[in-house]
Amino acid sequence: MLKDRHLIEPEDFTVGELQELFELGDRIIESPEKYSGACRGKLLATLFYEPSTRTRFSFEAAMLRLGGQTIGFSEPGSSSVSKGESIGDTIRTIGCYADIAVMRHPKEGAPLLASKKSVIPLINAGDGGHQHPTQTLTDLMTIRRYKRRLDNLVIGLCGDLKFGRTVHSLVKALSRYDNIKFVFISPNELEIPPHITDKLDKDQFEITQNLEGSLGKLDILYMTRVQRERFFSEDEYLRLKDFFLLNAKKMEKAKQDMIVMHPLPRVNEISTDMDTDERAVYFEQAKMGMYIRMALIMRLLGVE
Ligand code: NCD
Repeated sequence: MLKDRHLIEPEDFTVGELQELFELGDRIIESPEKYSGACRGKLLATLFYEPSTRTRFSFEAAMLRLGGQTIGFSEPGSSSVSKGESIGDTIRTIGCYADIAVMRHPKEGAPLLASKKSVIPLINAGDGGHQHPTQTLTDLMTIRRYKRRLDNLVIGLCGDLKFGRTVHSLVKALSRYDNIKFVFISPNELEIPPHITDKLDKDQFEITQNLEGSLGKLDILYMTRVQRERFFSEDEYLRLKDFFLLNAKKMEKAKQDMIVMHPLPRVNEISTDMDTDERAVYFEQAKMGMYIRMALIMRLLGVE
């Protein structure tokens, strides 16, 4: 039962609970109209202490499509946070008004801290460079739909693997399925952190700087942008930001059924000439994000 639980990191839910959520997602995609009143009378609060397009809009769209309503802020400057209120007090107060809350925060661990004080289900919508569990639900839902499985896959993750929270969450989540191999493709400076690879078997992953040379063996390529806002030096960002560019020419080296994913926003790492390639699924992936968030909201609220 997911009712009244928080979602702070992907492992908060078992593989079985995730499966159940994906199946509800499938049913929603099949007949969305059946769910248009599922959350009537319920209120979702979105607390965004850091910018967002997809995550906030997809949560709001998800709740509205379920017949519920939303309140929230996308600029902490417009809330009492700017008066110095603690995150614990903010979430206690929000719990007096709303039935469920979503929080994005630049500080790692902030949503976990808030969840300890929260009387309503709290969903982590990204905390610093740490975790982004609902992007992971989105990614797993997308992989399932295109690959029809979540096991026996070779996945390349490319770009900023150091600061990219979507990568950290996805690796943790996928490593719970059988026979998953990871190819971590990044400049040395943005390598995948040891606290992620420590949990993997030595023969389960490789680390490389070579995107083109890796393409032929991948079932999935997960591209990411260089996370400018997490850099200490702008010069360092400028030096690394264009390290990788995926384009139609390079894609000739990839398998015919390899899919290209990206959590978005894209900056320079995927050329727009890729968008018409049917292996590019990143906009479809964004759509999956709304459906799986609909399923998540329903389950945490315990509505049918
Ligand atoms: C990601 C994030 O916020 O971590 N965006 C998103 O939620 N789709 C990826 C990113 O910002 O690069």
